[in-house]
Amino acid sequence: MTQDEMKKQAAWAALEFIPHNTIVGVGTGSTVNHFIDALASIKQHIQGAVSSSVQSTLKLEALGIPVFELNDIDSFSVYVDGADEINPAKHMIKGGGAALTREKIVAAVAERFICIVDSSKQVDTLGAFPLPVEVLPMAIAYVQRQLNKLGGEAILRKGVITDNGNVILDVHNLHITDPLALENSINNIVGVVCNGIFAHRRADTVLIGTVTGTKIIN
Ligand code: 5RP
Repeated sequence: MTQDEMKKQAAWAALEFIPHNTIVGVGTGSTVNHFIDALASIKQHIQGAVSSSVQSTLKLEALGIPVFELNDIDSFSVYVDGADEINPAKHMIKGGGAALTREKIVAAVAERFICIVDSSKQVDTLGAFPLPVEVLPMAIAYVQRQLNKLGGEAILRKGVITDNGNVILDVHNLHITDPLALENSINNIVGVVCNGIFAHRRADTVLIGTVTGTKIIN
């Protein structure tokens, strides 16, 4: 079984967790693209979606799923998204697709975060995947110096502008033993818009595509 087949398996398994007649929060990435395909197969049973990126919005609309503005919704029950890494506490690194800020905002409004991953994303300690940090362009050099003081090596992601008009610094060589504290520390650097540690808003349920079927962790 390929990695993509395991992503697809986890994505389709998420349909079990979508209540009827609801608005669904939708993340971004290749695993979520499979989820959007799955969601289209039950589109007559949902009201629509709230999207975390232009990329996901385009795919949702192309498949005939109405997309609502987050500001028009007080709350919704389920947010489904992938991750770059997830640890046993269900803390994640996200942002490999540069959509971390909108993902964190949509996830904050959702009652339940369902994380869909293939088994390669499971780790004991976060940090082997370079941590994405969205930064205002005028603050790149300052934020880079501050991130390097935390022990990592912050490298500008070339050719990428986020949906919010900002850039991404990827922080290499981190060994994140306290994700909650590091998420706070990086948020406190002036010029940082958002960082890719999802510890304060961790996943509630994890669906892991494996060679022997989908594993569910609650
Ligand atoms: C995008 C994300 C994605 O969820 C993460 O990068 C995983 O992507 P994929 O499903 O393609 O492996 O955080 O910003």
